[in-house]
Amino acid sequence: MEDHEKALLEKLKAISQSDAQDSRALKSFLITMDDIIGIHSIRVSGYACMSGRELGLSEEDLAALRTSALLHDIGKILIPPVILNKADGLSQAEMSTIRRHPVTGVKILRDIDRYKTFADTVHHHHEFFNGRGYPCGLSGSDIPLLSRIIAAADSYEAMTSERPYRKGFSHREAITRLKMGRSTQFDPEIIDSFICALKKFSGEDFWGTGINLEL
Ligand SMILES: [Fe+2]
Repeated sequence: MEDHEKALLEKLKAISQSDAQDSRALKSFLITMDDIIGIHSIRVSGYACMSGRELGLSEEDLAALRTSALLHDIGKILIPPVILNKADGLSQAEMSTIRRHPVTGVKILRDIDRYKTFADTVHHHHEFFNGRGYPCGLSGSDIPLLSRIIAAADSYEAMTSERPYRKGFSHREAITRLKMGRSTQFDPEIIDSFICALKKFSGEDFWGTGINLEL
């Protein structure tokens, strides 16, 4: 493990030991490390919990979902921003660097007592329901449930957010695309529940994030 990876691990370990129930320290750590990844992860966690609540998850599972969604892209923190923020034209090598982030995330989390139970969820958040995702090519219910919930929330957040190199889709367009991915990329039941949950927030400022869903 390289020095900056060790330093990251030490910081996360310290946070895991001191973090309050609401994960405030973890959230600010993520934003400090990289504001785009941090804000994305906080929003994904919010969307995933909204979806999980709609699916009737227990409070215990919701708590695990909240933290694993916050940590889902932790492996990206070790990828140089110049690769992460590249608009297009990623080389094969850069693409494989990015696609390694779920596995890197597992390596980081399995050494942290409080977070190691979330490693499996983080490992599989880019699997596709039809088995064409990565890193393991798992399909259907072989993909952990919390990973399937995060996958939908992750895509929705990524599609609707502005990036330095591109504009975001409207919420309506993002939902159309989620529906197009039912049964291929996403678990259809989860997409249906997520859309149902999103509609409940239609026209509201979503949890004070400044996101008006306008469905
Ligand atoms: Fe990811």
